Amino acid sequence: MKIVVIGGTGLIGSKLVANLGENGQDAVAASPNSGVNTVTGEGLASVLTGASVVVDVSNAPEWDDDAVMHFFTTSSRNLLPAEAAAGVGHHVALSVVGTDRLTESGYFRAKLAQEELIKGSTIPYTIVHATQFFEFMNGIADEATDGNMVRLPPALIQPMAADDVATALARVAVRPPKNRIVEIAGPDQFRLDGLIRDMLAARNDPREVIADPQARYFGIAPSERTLLPGDDARLGATRFEDWFTHTTGQTLRYNSRSVIEASHA
Ligand SMILES: NC(=O)c1ccc[n+]([C@@H]2O[C@H](COP(=O)([O-])OP(=O)(O)OC[C@H]3O[C@@H](n4cnc5c(N)ncnc54)[C@H](OP(=O)(O)O)[C@@H]3O)[C@@H](O)[C@H]2O)c1
Repeated sequence: MKIVVIGGTGLIGSKLVANLGENGQDAVAASPNSGVNTVTGEGLASVLTGASVVVDVSNAPEWDDDAVMHFFTTSSRNLLPAEAAAGVGHHVALSVVGTDRLTESGYFRAKLAQEELIKGSTIPYTIVHATQFFEFMNGIADEATDGNMVRLPPALIQPMAADDVATALARVAVRPPKNRIVEIAGPDQFRLDGLIRDMLAARNDPREVIADPQARYFGIAPSERTLLPGDDARLGATRFEDWFTHTTGQTLRYNSRSVIEASHA
C-alpha cells in the first residue's frame, strides 16, 4: 500500500516512514526537502498518484499566530482536494490532546482549524490526538525560563515517546478510517513542574523550577486536567525515565511529588 507521509522528514515523520517501511508498506516521505510543499502545492499531485493513505505530520516552520494559522489552513486547503483528485481513501492527521480546550493559544487555534477542514472534507479520516512528546520537554522548560527561573503551572501531563507516536500512527494508517478523533498518550501522569524539575536536576541544569498557578503554558492557563487525555486513550509503552536514560546516559530519580502514584501502581 502506498502511504504518503506529509512532513515525513520531521521528528515523527521520519520514524513513521521507517516503521511503515519495516512493515512492508510503500511509505513515501513528502516535504519541501523532497520537493513537496503543501503551502504552495508544489509536487503534491505527483506524489499522491497511486496513494491509498496520506498521513499529515507536518508542522509550521514559524509559530506566531498569523504564520501558523496560514500554514495549517493553506496546507489543508491544498492537500485535501489533491487527495480527493488522486482517490486517496484515508487521511490521517496528527494533532494534540486537548486542542479544543487550548484555543487561548494561536497555535492551537490553527490546529483546530486544520481539524475542522479535515472533518469538512470528503476524505474519510482519522485524527490522532497525542500528548506532549518526551522530546518536547526541553522546549517546555526553555519557553518557561526567565533568567534562572522556570515558572510552570502545576498542571498534570501524560507525555509520550515520539517512537510510540510513530508506532500508533503506523497502526492507524493501515486500518480503516474512524472518522473521529482518537487519543494516544504515555503510560504515566506527572505534575508538569515536578517532571521538569527532576529532569533538569538529572542533567545538573542549575535552573530553579517554580510551581506557579499564575504561570502560563505557551500562553495558556491550564487547569489541573486540561492537558490529560480521556479514559479511552491508547497508551504507549515507553516510560519517561527509561527514555531519558537511553537518550542521555543519565539516571533520572523522581522526587516524591512529580509522579502521580496511581499511574505507577
Ligand atoms: N511537540 C509535541 O509535543 C506534539 C504533541 C502532539 C502533537 N504534535 C503534532 O505533531 C506534528 C509533527 O510534529 P514534529 O515535531 O514531528 O514536527 P517537525 O519535526 O518540526 O517536522 C515538521 C515537518 O513538516 C515539514 N514541513 C514544513 N513545511 C512544510 C510544507 N510547506 N509542506 C510540507 N511539509 C512541510 C518539514 O519538512 P522539511 O524537513 O522539508 O522542512 C518536516 O518534515 C505537528 O503537527 C504537531 O502539532 C506535537
